Amino acid sequence: MSSSVSVANQHGMAVVTIDNPPVNALSFHVRKPLYEALTALRDDPATRAIVIACAGRTFAAGADITEFGKPVEQPELRAIVALLETIAKPTVAAIHGTALGGGLELALGCHFRVADLGAKLGLPEVKLGLLPGGGGTVRLPRLVGAAKALGMIVSGAPISAEEAKAAGLADAVVDGDLLAEAVRFAGEMARRGGPFVPVRNRNDRLAGTDLSTFDAQAAELARKARGLEAPLACAEAVHNAITLPFDEALAAERQLFLRLVSGDQSRAQRHLFFAEREAAKIPGKDLQKRRIVRVGIIGAGTMGGGIAMAFANGGFPVTLLETGDEALQRGLAMIEKNYAVSVSRGTLTEEARQQRLSLFKGSTDHADLADCDLIIEAVFEDMAVKKQVFGKLDAVAKPGAILATNTSYLDVDAIADSTSRPRDVLGMHFFSPANVMKLLEIVRAEKTAPEVLATVADLARRIGKVAVVVGVCHGFVGNRMLSARGAENEFLLLEGATPAQVDKAFTDFGWPMGPFQMGDLAGLDIGWRNRKARGQTAVIADTLCEQGRFGQKTGRGWYRYDSGSRDPVADPEIDALIRAKAAELGVAQREIGADEIIERTLYPLVNEGAKILEEGIAARASDIDVVWVNGYGFPIGKGGPMFWAGLEGAGRIVERLEYWHAQTGRAIFEPAPLLKRFAETGSWIASG
Ligand code: 3HC
Ligand code: NAI
Repeated sequence: MSSSVSVANQHGMAVVTIDNPPVNALSFHVRKPLYEALTALRDDPATRAIVIACAGRTFAAGADITEFGKPVEQPELRAIVALLETIAKPTVAAIHGTALGGGLELALGCHFRVADLGAKLGLPEVKLGLLPGGGGTVRLPRLVGAAKALGMIVSGAPISAEEAKAAGLADAVVDGDLLAEAVRFAGEMARRGGPFVPVRNRNDRLAGTDLSTFDAQAAELARKARGLEAPLACAEAVHNAITLPFDEALAAERQLFLRLVSGDQSRAQRHLFFAEREAAKIPGKDLQKRRIVRVGIIGAGTMGGGIAMAFANGGFPVTLLETGDEALQRGLAMIEKNYAVSVSRGTLTEEARQQRLSLFKGSTDHADLADCDLIIEAVFEDMAVKKQVFGKLDAVAKPGAILATNTSYLDVDAIADSTSRPRDVLGMHFFSPANVMKLLEIVRAEKTAPEVLATVADLARRIGKVAVVVGVCHGFVGNRMLSARGAENEFLLLEGATPAQVDKAFTDFGWPMGPFQMGDLAGLDIGWRNRKARGQTAVIADTLCEQGRFGQKTGRGWYRYDSGSRDPVADPEIDALIRAKAAELGVAQREIGADEIIERTLYPLVNEGAKILEEGIAARASDIDVVWVNGYGFPIGKGGPMFWAGLEGAGRIVERLEYWHAQTGRAIFEPAPLLKRFAETGSWIASG
């Protein structure tokens, strides 16, 4: 007996309880006493049935992720599951909360699974760059069939208790006292008598698998994996479960697991798992939060509409304010259309659509914002307009209301100071489309009250966002680094690269698309307008815009898009334009390789991240990684720019930045002192 595992045995019904807060991870200090307790109960003639349950808020949510990458301490989870399968008396897992990863694998070692109605069951290892390593790939298909198991294991998405029951994973669903029902169930099984067949020996569901259909399904999933190894390994393991004898498939799963767990991709994804949770730890997190019931949004354009949907989706009533009726109706119509599309795609029920739409109230009168507890401004990106809006807000918002701006670049301190209540003001920088994109940069202004920050961080989580607190500077963390990433784009073209070559270097790296495709998608006119407002120019991009080439929306941009297609086609006219500009400016053209493209785009990205850390704009390097993975599509298998810098070799990055700095004299290449320190020490900590 230990504090992590206890056994209560009444009339031969043994209940083994795991108690390892907060999520009952199967750490060594759980596995050892669990193994010992199960061995004793197996050999105890007075014990007729065994129920495995967990204390606290959840069934075991998996292996202890902090143990990966360290020497393995015996017994491993696999040994416990194998031990369970040697027990002749009925074994029952009583599942509440989330039975995930190793937790579900433990339950799969039992003869039966009884689940609470609200429970979720899944194998999310793929999200950590892994595959289930405790026999999940071999046992789950035996209960739910190969196709269903493949879907669950490759997506990592959990299923509900009822779906688990329908699929054959759960034997009973309980709406009430789970433990009492699980004990009753176990007692009933013991009375009926065995033999009880362990999951490893249940082959009926697998026998009928059509391998060619399965392989086609697996190939489709592999296509979507975009360079990630884990989804492919998951598919291979389930294929093995169909084609190999149990023990061989189990051994193959083990080998795949060992390969993945020691690889860079899984290290990167595990880093991101903890990075997201670290980002949530902000000073003042435990302060009393302000109460947020109704949310006001000013501006029903691209961002305002999306932000309003994000809150309605989270169950918040929303007041949407526009300058006039026409703009308001346009904004509301777009929201209605987006929900209708979700219904037609089957991702939203008609009932939910109606419920969400009922949460919207449109208005053109600022006075209607008086009952809002949080008001987010998403009007044009213009300081004068923003200040005017905040002036009006100051007059109508109730005392204690939080006032937020969705500005992409502007000075949040200046916006705050234009009100009489700067303590209530902060930035909430959403990403487009705001109802879909996970990231929220919470911009802490100089005078923002700690409880305002804490309230918004808490709220972000409630609407399903991954929030990162950042400081005030032009573009905050994400957009400021994006500018550094793109600073060389035009030079690369002038010196001989094509947009397609640059984009390919990016997609080969793992980005969903390259910067030129991205520009065409977002609309080149946006950057053009911003440049003009700031008195800046871009020799090639400006010419494209002067020719009306705004990207996908005009059918032509850096690429051609023929007859409404979204597929970019390289355009000889662009190549000719670039050559002409290079000649005009006297720039000699040459072959430019993928390595050089990466050095001149992603090394400055990392360098800018280091400067941001030095300046305290981001609190941790891992926060920057969270921003880039969730907001800009940085490949998760590389862990974000600051983690990747370690993989790439910070020494090399410094050396190449110095080289390019000497070649060009441009400041983006001047290595940040913190980057140099990181190259020497391996630590991104800015001081001490
Ligand atoms: N191992 C170690 N720590 C874990 C953990 C795990 N499996 N799961 C969660 N934690 C920690 C978190 O880091 C966090 O710590 P902190 O408070 O110090 O930051 C704390 O537990 C609470 O976690 P959350 O903030 O995420 O709590 P939520 O209530 O929001 O979510 C959860 C709970 C859904 C269980 C979520 O934590 C989760 O998804 N956990 C990971 C589940 C998972 O991936 N399991 C598979 C692990 S790999 C495996 O099992 C391999 C096997 O096949 C051999
Ligand atoms: P948009 O042009 O699509 O929408 C702006 C809306 O604000 C328009 O509908 C306009 O009628 C309305 N508006 C203007 N002045 C107003 C006022 N005084 N009161 C009420 N409504 C007013 O612009 P978009 O793209 O939605 O951008 C809004 C803000 O969000 C900007 O600050 C922008 O920098 C920021 N942002 C934009 C992102 C994007 O990808 N488009 C991403 C993140 C932030």
